[in-house]
Amino acid sequence: MSQLKVTGITRRFGGLVAVDALDLTVEKGAIHGIIGPNGAGKTTLFSMISGTLAVSGGRIEFEGRDVTGLPPHRTVSLGMVRTFQRSAVFHHFTVVENLLLGTHLLARPTVLGSLFGSHRRFTSADLEAAEEILCFIGLADYRDAAAETLPLGHQRSLGIGIALAAKPKLLMLDEPAAGMNRTESEALMQLIRDVRDRMGATVLLVEHDMQTVMGLCERITVLNFGRKLAEGRPAEIAADSAVIEAYLGLDEDAQAVAAHA
Ligand SMILES: Nc1ncnc2c1ncn2[C@@H]1O[C@H](COP(=O)(O)OP(=O)(O)OP(=O)(O)O)[C@@H](O)[C@H]1O
Ligand SMILES: [Mg+2]
Repeated sequence: MSQLKVTGITRRFGGLVAVDALDLTVEKGAIHGIIGPNGAGKTTLFSMISGTLAVSGGRIEFEGRDVTGLPPHRTVSLGMVRTFQRSAVFHHFTVVENLLLGTHLLARPTVLGSLFGSHRRFTSADLEAAEEILCFIGLADYRDAAAETLPLGHQRSLGIGIALAAKPKLLMLDEPAAGMNRTESEALMQLIRDVRDRMGATVLLVEHDMQTVMGLCERITVLNFGRKLAEGRPAEIAADSAVIEAYLGLDEDAQAVAAHA
């Protein structure tokens, strides 16, 4: 069953068509990858789906409901949760505090100021949810460490944890493996699999790291100049000559991973 259905979605910036009449269907429970060269329109697509950017045309349906143009706090409350390309953790706060903020912040971004006011109280249910996610993302040992002191891989896991605190049905991750070494990206892959398998969330993943994409996704959509260049299983995408031409980043290691996916 398709959970997300995007039809003819378009975004123009002046004369530039960043996303051009794109159709995209994401199945419930899938790990679905979006790849493509820099500037292909991947982040713009995420921003329109999550409601942080208005569409110039087209329609977005989530679980059978028209969500086109809904503001982010509405899409989040329906279970559509995204992370941002430049990781968003609250650097000066501890790990558990970050997760606590996540239980409220994503759903009601406008109350940011009041979160820090003396009248704002977290409930014991919020704390319980935060502690559960803390274990889930494997950061229990870092519970009271300031987020800024964590290594990059752990900061990214925390970023995903903050998103999980908003109880996503569809989790949209924008380049979660950027800048990671192979050990970190493999841990990230396992975390993303756990999010799908144990939390039951659908995952939509924008990522340049081809080993991560090929090893993780069941289906991949390739964008180029705002349009769909190809779509299919990892092995099909890795063997597609148009993809290889548009996306020279498809190295031998990624090809090998795709062949076994
Ligand atoms: N706010 C904006 N104003 C004007 N142009 C924009 C804006 N946001 C994106 N663009 C342009 O739209 C196109 C698509 O950008 P987008 O950020 O979606 O690409 P991307 O596929 O996410 O790239 P990357 O892999 O580098 O993150 C680019 O040409 C970009 O310069
Ligand atoms: Mg981007």
